[in-house]
Amino acid sequence: MKTMKDDIQSVLYTEEQLREGVKRIAAEINRDYAGKEIYAIGILKGAIIFYADLVREINVPVSFDFMAASSYGKGSTSSGAVKILKDLDFSIEGKHVIIIEDIVDSGLTLSYLLKNMESRHPASVKLCTLLNKPERREVDVKIDYVGFEVPNEFLVGYGLDYDSKYRNLPYIGILKPEVYTK
Ligand code: IMP
Ligand code: MG
Repeated sequence: MKTMKDDIQSVLYTEEQLREGVKRIAAEINRDYAGKEIYAIGILKGAIIFYADLVREINVPVSFDFMAASSYGKGSTSSGAVKILKDLDFSIEGKHVIIIEDIVDSGLTLSYLLKNMESRHPASVKLCTLLNKPERREVDVKIDYVGFEVPNEFLVGYGLDYDSKYRNLPYIGILKPEVYTK
């Protein structure tokens, strides 16, 4: 029987490497937010595994909230426009917000969300992403916390999907191009 693993060209980050990356980011956040409280906004669905691992390494109080945003269309490239599919449950006015993403690619999603969050008058907003794919950037975004800089390949696992699949792989792998070109 065909398994998810058969669609993976190679493993880019193992579970162990991801754990170390998460710990490194959490240490920076713990230092920067000592004595404060964090309002952590996870971007559904890709960021949830990273989010769940990251918040458990943070040692200041964290309020959970989530947003779902979609750059129109499926496929492996972003088209441009961003739509909010699920908004926050609570007001972020006066809060120290950290937006938690899986990957920054064109940057369109995060730059849109950042402007949208800033219009709600939080005390501060920072951006945290597990993966950064700088080669594909179309708009400038200042990322405050990054796990890994990744090559221009289509990645899946640890929350990242292709066509809603592969999110449950425990590592990050490079998807075989034949999977998304066929
Ligand atoms: P951006 O707006 O182009 O920066 O797109 C960010 C979103 O595109 C991420 O939250 C992912 O959902 C998706 N994305 C970008 N690159 C990849 C990838 O290599 N694998 C899976 N999803 C990706
Ligand atoms: Mg996503």
